[in-house]
Amino acid sequence: MPSRYHRWALSPDPGASAPILVAVAWPYASGPRHIGHVAGFGVPSDIFARYQRLRGRAVLMVSGTDEHGTPILVAADREGVSPREVADRYNRVIADDLRRLGLSYDLFTRTTTRNHERVVQDVFTTLHEKGYLIRRTQLGAFSPATGRTLPDRYIEGTCPHCGYPAARGDQCDNCGRMLDPTELLNPRSRIDGSTPVFRDSEHFFLDLPAFAAALGTWIESRQGWRPNVRAFSLNLLAEIRPRAVTRDIDWGVPIPLPEFAGRPDKRIYVWFDAVVGYLSASVEWAHLGRDPEAWRRWWQDPDSRHYYFMGKDNIVFHSVIWPSMLMGYGSGGTFGGGPGHPPLQLPENVVSSEFLTMEGAKFSSSRGVVIEVRDYLERYDPDPLRYYLTAAGPETQDTDFTWEEFVRRNNDELVATWGNLVQRTLQLAARHFGEVPEPGALAEADRSVRQAVTAGFGRVATLLEEARFKAALQQAMALAAQVNQYLGEQEPWRLVNGDRERAATVVHVALQCVADLGVMMAPFLPFTSQRLHEMLGGEGQLAPLPELEEVGPAEDRHLVLRTDLTMSVPRWSPVDLPPGRPIGAPLPLFRKLDPAVAAAEVERLR
Ligand code: MF3
Ligand code: ZN
Repeated sequence: MPSRYHRWALSPDPGASAPILVAVAWPYASGPRHIGHVAGFGVPSDIFARYQRLRGRAVLMVSGTDEHGTPILVAADREGVSPREVADRYNRVIADDLRRLGLSYDLFTRTTTRNHERVVQDVFTTLHEKGYLIRRTQLGAFSPATGRTLPDRYIEGTCPHCGYPAARGDQCDNCGRMLDPTELLNPRSRIDGSTPVFRDSEHFFLDLPAFAAALGTWIESRQGWRPNVRAFSLNLLAEIRPRAVTRDIDWGVPIPLPEFAGRPDKRIYVWFDAVVGYLSASVEWAHLGRDPEAWRRWWQDPDSRHYYFMGKDNIVFHSVIWPSMLMGYGSGGTFGGGPGHPPLQLPENVVSSEFLTMEGAKFSSSRGVVIEVRDYLERYDPDPLRYYLTAAGPETQDTDFTWEEFVRRNNDELVATWGNLVQRTLQLAARHFGEVPEPGALAEADRSVRQAVTAGFGRVATLLEEARFKAALQQAMALAAQVNQYLGEQEPWRLVNGDRERAATVVHVALQCVADLGVMMAPFLPFTSQRLHEMLGGEGQLAPLPELEEVGPAEDRHLVLRTDLTMSVPRWSPVDLPPGRPIGAPLPLFRKLDPAVAAAEVERLR
């Protein structure tokens, strides 16, 4: 059957068997996440992972909640509970949100597990032994009122680089640079506005300058990074300095050196701990499966490719700090595998998104109006949000979410183009044939529409490989529009009465196109694509969904999100629908929304 249609081409495969690590930024378990968060890292990484799995590649997609450091302490203070309670509560909320959005993690875990602590400490100890952690005394900030240390994030001031007045002690949200609290101009405590007192405090510093040359060569050689990420990262190298990786704080991974044992006042810096999560989660994933060593396939196979997904305020940690840690760790420690093992892989791409603002306001949970993921999901389906965030999200520039635009895109694009095509094609087949009809001879119009659609597999694949999600979705939607146009021209609903054979051919061609497009849509719209797959009589799972699960021994029991792939069908190629396969009356995949809901939603935000 495929020979009747023309060839379709896939982008060159850099190694069909190359394992792919999809490493997704770890959201802080400091509160519910808003749709800006999932727009930045959640949805794009899931599209990428789903696409790679459909191509038949070995994908490992990992992340978890980031549960240490000041963000959790701030939340615990705010809510008057312990940091542990905050972490437990929001780990659950966040994992459930991500589940309901269909984000297909192989493992979404937590940074408070024993496994994670063990891997972090191994990386720390190894870097220390190799001389990459330097001991130095630096000024630490203390509250004049309480005498307690003021963690970086409790301090606000003016950025010495760009003049942004609300920079934090660890980072400037405006220019993205790493900061030390002592660099801030006009530093003040975010708790009581007082001016912090700076006193000497001893810390370990990651010797970033030791890696600067290697980092420079490596980043220069990277193809396919978004230009802003590349330029920004190279720029950071120009002014690179050792960076403190311990903190005066009591909530975090303990420093694994004898003299720090049992000391409650110093911990490993949350960012050092969090980025190691990509490795520790891979190790945990392997331990939960049949082969505890399976993670090595992703981390030590020189052909494996690692893709990191995050918001732009995380770039430095993924393009400079974590790669330095990886270079320093190399093949050392327990998880580096020892001498003779290849060093752990560096990122293939650091895919960073811009910010999503909402209804004109900055979309950040600490400053201003937000839509929480769970609030959205209470009233609407996940696929329309995934659609919106891909079609109109902050892929390459800051964008503004408006409810009006959400409703418009849902109604005029998702429902009117793709939903409508599926609905009328399946309805025609169900009503007039009750099955996939046997086609007659193909006319030019039949061949050319199917050819255009099958060529989409190659075109959409090329865009997805480059992490150009918006363009990839546009491509698939344009093909859906083209098939709608074909139906409009062929008018099979008229033909059924006069020329039934011709009607059968047109409906057959349209069904084939819908089935092909259903595969291309699956990475973007997993819930509805799976339903379509079933309505077309397909077996197995085109779009497997994640589930919550408790894992680990009693003393380390924790909630994770995992996706069972045993029933999944790896397929990124044209579908063959056998004539005679039953087709029942379809249920609509999408709902049209009353334009009045836009105003009602805006009203809720006030
Ligand atoms: N928790 C951080 C944030 O929300 C992201 C951590 S990503 C990881 O900005 F690299 F640390 F994993
Ligand atoms: Zn700045």
